[in-house]
Amino acid sequence: MLYALLSMTLFWNCKPKQEKEDNFEVKYTKTVPQEEKVKEPIPVDLENKGIGPIESLSFPEQIDEDMAANGESKFNALCMRCHMIDERMIGPAMVGLYERRSPEWVMNMILNPDGMLREDPIAKALLKEYQAVMNNQNLSEEEAREIAEYLRTL
Ligand code: HEC
Repeated sequence: MLYALLSMTLFWNCKPKQEKEDNFEVKYTKTVPQEEKVKEPIPVDLENKGIGPIESLSFPEQIDEDMAANGESKFNALCMRCHMIDERMIGPAMVGLYERRSPEWVMNMILNPDGMLREDPIAKALLKEYQAVMNNQNLSEEEAREIAEYLRTL
């Protein structure tokens, strides 16, 4: 008798709850505003020099072809597993890089990705979007500069 009563109450408790949840789901999907799904844009800021060892760098007008060729082979060996030239992969596409980033910012991102991802507003926005950590390739300033030169050719 007690058992029968118990299972009846259980039955009664369960059913309306299930209905409530169904209702909730319907209501929820209907009321999520469209704007919330739109991604935040990643800032473009050519004044931002980033955080790291490079405080000032301006490229000479002419691209140094030898330097760029050295940079290209280093890029292919170290960066291609995460970056493609003109398509998003684990990290952003490299094409048009200097239209959105200063030379100093690019060098600091190569030489000090950890510090950049922690503190720089653009790098932090990129991290949020790509959800992957760019790791330090332990390059010398000279090696990073060669890659930076190659990236000018894209
Ligand atoms: C393990 C994957 C990985 C490797 C290796 C890697 N990166 Fe990245 N890189 C990323 C990711 C992911 C981002 C976006 C920021 C983040 O989420 O860490 C990024 C961001 C960048 C940016 C900023 C792009 C923009 O649109 O502002 C540059 C420049 C860059 N990487 C250059 C390089 C270079 C040069 C190398 C090689 C020396 C390299 N990366 C190696 C994953 C990688």
